[in-house]
Amino acid sequence: MATKDTLTVTDNRTGKTYELAVKDGCIRTADLRQIKVDEKDFGLMGYDPAFLNTANCRSAITFIDGDKGILEYRGYPIEQLAEKSSFLEVAYLLLNGELPTKQEIDEFTYIITHHTYVHENIKSFMDGFRYDAHPMSMLASTVAALSSFYPDAKNIKDRTTRRIQMMRLIAKMPTIAAFSYRHSMGLPYVYPDNELSYVGNYLAMIRKIGTATYKPNPILERALDVLFILHADHEQNCSTTATRIVGSSQVDPYSAVTAGITALYGPLHGGANEAVLRMLREIGHVSRVPEFIKQVKSGEGEKKLMGFGHRVYKSYDPRAKVIKQQADKVFEVTGKNPLLDIATELERIALQDDYFVKRKLYPNVDFYSGLIYEAMGFPAEMFPVLFAIPRTVGWVAQWEEMVLDEEQKIARPRQVYTGHPRRDYAPMEKRTSGARP
Ligand code: SDX
Repeated sequence: MATKDTLTVTDNRTGKTYELAVKDGCIRTADLRQIKVDEKDFGLMGYDPAFLNTANCRSAITFIDGDKGILEYRGYPIEQLAEKSSFLEVAYLLLNGELPTKQEIDEFTYIITHHTYVHENIKSFMDGFRYDAHPMSMLASTVAALSSFYPDAKNIKDRTTRRIQMMRLIAKMPTIAAFSYRHSMGLPYVYPDNELSYVGNYLAMIRKIGTATYKPNPILERALDVLFILHADHEQNCSTTATRIVGSSQVDPYSAVTAGITALYGPLHGGANEAVLRMLREIGHVSRVPEFIKQVKSGEGEKKLMGFGHRVYKSYDPRAKVIKQQADKVFEVTGKNPLLDIATELERIALQDDYFVKRKLYPNVDFYSGLIYEAMGFPAEMFPVLFAIPRTVGWVAQWEEMVLDEEQKIARPRQVYTGHPRRDYAPMEKRTSGARP
């Protein structure tokens, strides 16, 4: 029988049938609007809270197969990039679609290296935060403030202007992140060092105290470079979607990326790496793992096994595998993080416990990363910042793809109205105490 790429639906309210085109495994939800009970009917909409089954865009940047645990950047498997590439080379790939030639990566590296400084006023801006301000809050506020330093960033349709803002964001994120760390430690800011690599420079701006130069440990520098590769992009996750949605109003990229930072801050997203460490500290000892698992399964206190589960991966997150390998290399330098035993015992029990198996809950990118960051001397509050730095590449690459996508326009979803039907204004004497949501 000849098959057609269409869906035939029958509206049982009217007996009418409709043929909807199927392309790339999707129907256009707008095609549902023709399905009406009468001419006054608005027509059918799709209802999909939290977008569990909705494609918001067409993208060529990152591919994920959640069932097979596959992650590819521009077609290259994440495992190969983690083993053979560098973060700036992966950044070039995500932004431009191809791996760079020697000349291209040298030019790209030069541009990034020479845009790491921030305006001196940024320092006084950051000095206004309390000593105990969360670095993600400082990062989001300061990146938002950057848009006031580059008013021409609003010209998002001009490629040259657009691209220089994207380079500035990638280059300055480590500087602002390091400044937020130094501020919280009461230490003087360390200026970028153009002689160091992207990651080495970040480590120097974090660690340098009282010395003219700083030489990062090459094993730690490489481990963080690999972690940055793993965190660079992840298709339409919560923070990237926030960046795209805010960017769809044609605001400048600094403001759009601020939306990404604040979305990433949440404990269900990039804030999970910080929550994992707090969870491991709360468990405190391997012997208390069974009790904790029991509390999670019983729903007691709405406890979750942080660092487990994923909206897309219904198998082991391929990034978690690579991170676990990196942990062994880091611990050879720093000494093993004692919380690792609790983490591996949690994983061992969860991977065989029906509650987690049935819900296809596996370790995700955030489960082991915090152990590495803590072993490298970062406080837990800095963990989501260490996620935001590399994810800036994904945010700006996806933002630019949205800007250039002729199908895209300002994002403005509809709703299912569940409120009061129309009613007249009530005079005071006729009112009763208001209902509370
Ligand atoms: C990231 O989207 C991305 O790509 C994100 C990311 C990226 O690179 O951008 O990969 C980075 O954010 C990774 C996820 C980090 N977050 C956490 O580790 C927090 C803990 N995980 C959960 O909150 C949860 O798994 C989510 C938020 C990650 C996914 O949530 P979903 O897809 O909405 O799944 P759900 O909440 O509907 O859970 C389905 C079931 C529920 O049980 P039932 O109601 O069916 O009985 O699984 C349970 C949930 O209660 N469940 C968990 C759990 N995660 C889900 N139970 C215990 N512990 C967990 N971690």
